[in-house]
Amino acid sequence: MFRVLITDNLAPAGLKILQETPGIEVDNRSKLTPAEVREALKTADGIIIRSGTELTPELLEGQQRLKVIVRAGVGVDNINLPTATREGIVVMNTPTGNTTSTAEHTVTMMMALSRNVAAADASMKAGKWDRNKFKGTQLAGKTLAVVGLGRIGLAVAKRAIGLEMNIVGYDPFMSAERAAEHGIELIRDVDEIVTRCDYITVHTPLDDGTRGLINAERIAKMRKGVRIINCARGGIVDETALADALKSGHVAGAALDVFVEEPPSADHPLLKAPNLVLTPHLGASTEEAQEAVSVEAAEIIVGFLIRSEVRHAVNLIPISGAEMADMKPYLDIGYRLGLLLSQLKKSAHVKSARLLYRGDAATKKTKLITAAFTSGLMASADDSGVNIVNAEMLARERGIEITESSSSERGDFSTLVSATVVTDAGEFSAASTIFGNQFLRLVKLGDFHLDAYLDGHLLMYHHIDAPGLIGFMGTVFGKHNVNIAHLALGRKVAGGQAVAVLNLDGAPTPESLAEVSTHDKVTAVETVQLPAAGAPLPWLISG
Ligand code: NAD
Ligand code: MLT
Repeated sequence: MFRVLITDNLAPAGLKILQETPGIEVDNRSKLTPAEVREALKTADGIIIRSGTELTPELLEGQQRLKVIVRAGVGVDNINLPTATREGIVVMNTPTGNTTSTAEHTVTMMMALSRNVAAADASMKAGKWDRNKFKGTQLAGKTLAVVGLGRIGLAVAKRAIGLEMNIVGYDPFMSAERAAEHGIELIRDVDEIVTRCDYITVHTPLDDGTRGLINAERIAKMRKGVRIINCARGGIVDETALADALKSGHVAGAALDVFVEEPPSADHPLLKAPNLVLTPHLGASTEEAQEAVSVEAAEIIVGFLIRSEVRHAVNLIPISGAEMADMKPYLDIGYRLGLLLSQLKKSAHVKSARLLYRGDAATKKTKLITAAFTSGLMASADDSGVNIVNAEMLARERGIEITESSSSERGDFSTLVSATVVTDAGEFSAASTIFGNQFLRLVKLGDFHLDAYLDGHLLMYHHIDAPGLIGFMGTVFGKHNVNIAHLALGRKVAGGQAVAVLNLDGAPTPESLAEVSTHDKVTAVETVQLPAAGAPLPWLISG
């Protein structure tokens, strides 16, 4: 049974999906203190939040059961992503459900600002009839700058074009051609776009690159009488700079739905600034948007917990349920190669690792296979809970560089994953393929080609190829009651250097290992333990 904790108000449609899904148990509690959230997370496999819950490092650290965080909404700035990733927790959001509502709210704010709707309403309710004081400005023919041309930015531009406005846009990840298809003139420089508009609206995420994007310096460059709208995240427009510019009259008006601190404190400078329209983070607050994000959040958490689907993840590559079924043998190969090489390198310090995907393997989501390999390689590091989400971050933090390359050429096998680990004691390498659809085979160890099973107890002995050695091994392990399930030999020339891999049915005893090492043709003996054939991947929730 997977337990899903919900700490913010989630619309009933999503709750119903969760409650009616076999295998899911819902723990729906709002208004928890941070300490209560931390406690509740200890027994949760997943959590759904909106903007009311802040998942700080203190709440996420050491949460061993928690596997997934779903943000019912777009912004994940209330989730500490580095900590979630380090803890191996997948973070997902629902990017599309509230796009239209937020775009409509942005346009509403722009219109309310232009026609002084809120101030005129307050004035009338105070018993006045002041038609001159509230003369507005027409939108048609004016230029609107849209900063951030993602889902909401483009939806705002589309609506503003309907109002006969001219649209200029800025987004470092958008091409001029694609912007033009949306009727937008792309401006390449944020310092230029601020000089080219009568209205400016921001629709970027809040991150280190966008915090204070619209600051005092850029506001000073804007046309006198410009109007500023922020329905994205508090802090993209510098609040103090905006308050000053409203007071000086350089900015004719502003409309804000979001604030650095929500709710803003009573003495916040903006609350005393003139010509300001404010709403309390209402962009996505429509019945339709709340229902859409609630349903989407429920569906993606169920998909993840029950079917290992990864949709809209912000710290893992997305993968559908069908793709996951196809990818499982490859993830398994990656994981087992990582485990194998981490045991062969013994105490040597790993500097880097490189993977090469050939043939069919090269057509898969290789970044995920690399992550699976890294989770195997890092499994013996002192971290508990290394998984496909955090392995590469943990490797990076230890200065281990993991690289991959692909070749569609098939070579000797229709599919091949090769891995090399570079350590201060030299390089260790191995390669694996899949026979049929699921039989994983170790087909290369160092320079030697062979064909061994990639599961269970492996004993490897390096030796000089000579008659009688295989019989000797059989006798030793027979005497110690260890059954040999399979033997694979790799050599280049008869009588030369060779390696053999024995797949054993049980762990070899220290006595048997000591005895096989006594043979004068044996130069080194190593053991490796891998999961049994077909064992579920430890970090894959549904096996
Ligand atoms: P999105 O990911 O579709 O779009 C964001 C865009 O910003 C992307 O195109 C990206 O390329 C662009 N971008 C990133 N850095 C940039 C930079 N430095 N300069 C210019 N552009 C940059 O996201 P979205 O769904 O359109 O959401 C936009 C914002 O609206 C987010 O901050 C989200 O949290 C917020 N939001 C607010 C509400 C609300 O209730 N007020 C509702 C939904 C979303
Ligand atoms: C979002 O990021 O989706 C918005 O802030 C809406 C919300 O969740 O309140």
